[in-house]
Amino acid sequence: MKVSVIGAGNVGATCADIVAQKDIVNEVVLLDIKENYAEGKALDIWECSPVNYYDTRVTGATNDYSKTAGSDVVVITSGLPRKPGMSRDDLIGTNAKIVKSVTEQVIAHSPNAKIIVVSNPLDVMTYTAYLTAKKPSNEVFGMAGVLDTARYRSFLALELNCSPKDIQAVLMGGHGDTMVPLPRYTTVAGIPVTELVDSKRLDEIIERTKKGGGEIVNLLGTSGWYAPGSAAAQMVEAVVRDTQRIFPSCAWLEGQYGLENIFLGVPTKLGKNGIEEIIELQLNDEEMDLLNTSAQHVRDVMKVLDDMNMF
Ligand code: NAI
Ligand code: 2OP
Repeated sequence: MKVSVIGAGNVGATCADIVAQKDIVNEVVLLDIKENYAEGKALDIWECSPVNYYDTRVTGATNDYSKTAGSDVVVITSGLPRKPGMSRDDLIGTNAKIVKSVTEQVIAHSPNAKIIVVSNPLDVMTYTAYLTAKKPSNEVFGMAGVLDTARYRSFLALELNCSPKDIQAVLMGGHGDTMVPLPRYTTVAGIPVTELVDSKRLDEIIERTKKGGGEIVNLLGTSGWYAPGSAAAQMVEAVVRDTQRIFPSCAWLEGQYGLENIFLGVPTKLGKNGIEEIIELQLNDEEMDLLNTSAQHVRDVMKVLDDMNMF
């Protein structure tokens, strides 16, 4: 199995490092447009192999997509990250062009790859990759929900002073402040979270989750990478090991949840075909309203992409 990660910056290099450490594929190729940058990061990661005990070969390339040829999975992280005061949506002008050109080159060399998009604004960059790749929709999807639920679960673990391993949650919608964490589908070792955390405190944790990306940007001056890189690597693992794990993914909707022609975060099953299934929950009216609001926000950003006349 071969995985390529496009963009050897903070998120891409972290994702490549974690995929390598999992020892689940033969080869990881890291590619960046900056001269020697991916080669340097890849060499550093490969030099961990005797210490962290894995066989996965890690190599780097400067814009040479022939090195990515025959990839089973490609993770696209290339593009600008947020700076303080910016929303993810402010990145569209630059990142749409980057994601389009990267996807064209990925597909030319790895026509069968499953593509996992990470670049922001996530939902619309996944749409950009989908329009460019012209692949079945189960083969192009985005990473956001794994990260956003991880933030939600980590905050709940702090609140309850319990292991984050015991917290399970579902979160839907776009990757932005309109995302929809779902307390009704959140449990702590099977116990509904609403029995353990009062509604006021739960609302505060949900608000912190929605602003979780911005909280890191304000601390670091750029967006986070450990949790995003880990989240993308977890999705890679589900595909290359065909685990059928259930994660929230940014997926193309064709009528599910009453929505169509949009990429949006929904619960999915991931396996060797990419998105094996979109799981439809019985949302109540309030949850459906929140999901529709989030979908409308994503459609507004899709309109910005349409107005760029790239497709
Ligand atoms: P970064 O600036 O550290 O790395 C981006 C890399 O992309 C740079 O090394 C740059 O040289 C490379 N790049 C730019 N144009 C390229 C091209 N045409 N071909 C190949 N490489 C190219 O940024 P970071 O922190 O790694 O973030 C990457 C993207 O991921 C950003 O758009 C960020 O907003 C997004 N992100 C998304 C998350 C999510 O949950 N979906 C979470 C965190 C970040
Ligand atoms: C994050 O959520 C900015 O999308 C990036 O950290």
